[in-house]
Order: sequence, then structure tokens, then C-alpha cells
Amino acid sequence: MLTGKLITFEGPDGAGKTSALNAIVAKIAPRLGDQLVVTREPGGNQISEAIRRIILDRQNTAMDDRTEALLYAAARRQHIVQKIQPALAQGKLVLCDRYIDSSIAYQGAGRGIGEQAVYDMNQFATEGLNPDLTLYFDVAAEVGLKRIQTHRQNEINRLDVEALSFHHRVQAAYLRLLAAYPERIKRLDASQPLDQVVAQAIAVMTTQLPQYFATEGKSNE
Ligand SMILES: Nc1ncnc2c1ncn2[C@@H]1O[C@H](COP(=O)(O)OP(=O)(O)OP(=O)(O)O)[C@@H](O)[C@H]1O
Ligand SMILES: [Mg+2]
Repeated sequence: MLTGKLITFEGPDGAGKTSALNAIVAKIAPRLGDQLVVTREPGGNQISEAIRRIILDRQNTAMDDRTEALLYAAARRQHIVQKIQPALAQGKLVLCDRYIDSSIAYQGAGRGIGEQAVYDMNQFATEGLNPDLTLYFDVAAEVGLKRIQTHRQNEINRLDVEALSFHHRVQAAYLRLLAAYPERIKRLDASQPLDQVVAQAIAVMTTQLPQYFATEGKSNE
């Protein structure tokens, strides 16, 4: 039986997911110790990181949309089996930078394969392992892309360079997910400065998962 909890970080490129995740970990890691597992998709283990390099390689212009979706799901499967599931079985808190919702938004809507088709295909990969909580970093696609162009020139991948219309489809799909799963997905205003986004995230996590966060704010003052 799984007793741990899985929190996923979702949102468009440059929304600040990774920055916020790092800041949150710096705050909570001293208290949670090895009860905390921090990971990312695609990746989180040797096989999935190898798949990640294939997906994000800007040389791979010939990659078919469904191949891309299947590679993400394959990386996810391996990540779950090797890392997420064992951690949850030990009662740990797992924070994951992107998960299924990214596939639904980017491959389902962005690439146009179909959100339902990508969802269904992912059920095979995950055997129904859904996040307990998803933080949605809500920011206009243009703002996120501008942040990346300004600060992260050395690390722009194959999906970052898609047309703006692609990113608008991704964002629209995320907003549909937000509306469809209001219990699971909580919106953060990611247009605010990073420290305020982090404060919003901790507030949401404290409300939703008090068993891990109830003392937050007291322990690190
Ligand atoms: N709230 C914020 N306000 C302004 N700039 C920010 C904010 N959060 C992050 N940034 C900056 O924007 C850039 C993108 O942030 P980050 O890499 O955390 O985004 P991301 O959501 O993880 O993007 P990706 O989906 O591409 O991984 C970084 O240079 C970061 O310093
Ligand atoms: Mg990131």
C-alpha cells in the first residue's frame, strides 16, 4: 500500500517551477530529511535521463509526435518503478518537476495528438498512479518564454523553440485540466516575484498535506 504523497509541479515553460521547487526544498529539506524525495521528468534515473536526452536533443527534428509522447511515457514508467513507487511505499513525500499533465498539455494539445489519447496511453504507463496534489504555475506563455530567453540562453531545448501558437495550445490545455480537477490541481499566481510564488506554494501544501507541512513557518524561523 502507498502511504506517501506525490506532489507535482506543472505549468508552461519558464513559469518558475524548477526555481520554486529548489527554494521549497531548501526550506523543508532540513526538517524532512530522507522523508523527502525530489525528482524531475523526464528523468529521475539512468534510463529515463537517457530517454530525456533523446527527447530534448535539438538535432532530433525528425521525431514523430507519437514517438515523442511514447518516449515521455516510457521515461515516466521507469521513473515510477525505480523511484516514485518505492518512495511512496516508504511513506515519503515526493516532489516531482512535471508529470502526466505535461504530456496531456504538450503532446496532447501542443502537438495535437489529442488530450484524451495521451491520457489513456499514460494510464498504461502509470497504472493509475496520480499525484495527490499538483501545483499549477500560472503565467502567460509570453512571460515564461521571455524569462527563459533572458536568463537561460545556454539551456534552450527542442520544445522551448516551438512557435508561440504551440505554447498557447499548451496553456489552454493546462487551464482545462485545472477546471477538470479542482480538488487535485491548485493554481499559483506565477507572475509574482519568486519569493511570493514560493510562499503561495507552501501555503497550499500546508493546507492540502498538513501531515508534512503543518509545522512549516515555525520550524525554520
Ligand atoms: N517568479 C519569477 N519572477 C521572475 N523570474 C523568475 C521567476 N521564477 C523564475 N524566474 C526566472 O525565470 C527563468 C525560468 O525559471 P525556471 O527554470 O524555474 O522555469 P521552469 O518553469 O522550470 O521552466 P521549464 O518548464 O522550461 O523547465 C529562470 O531564469 C528563473 O530565474
Ligand atoms: Mg524547469
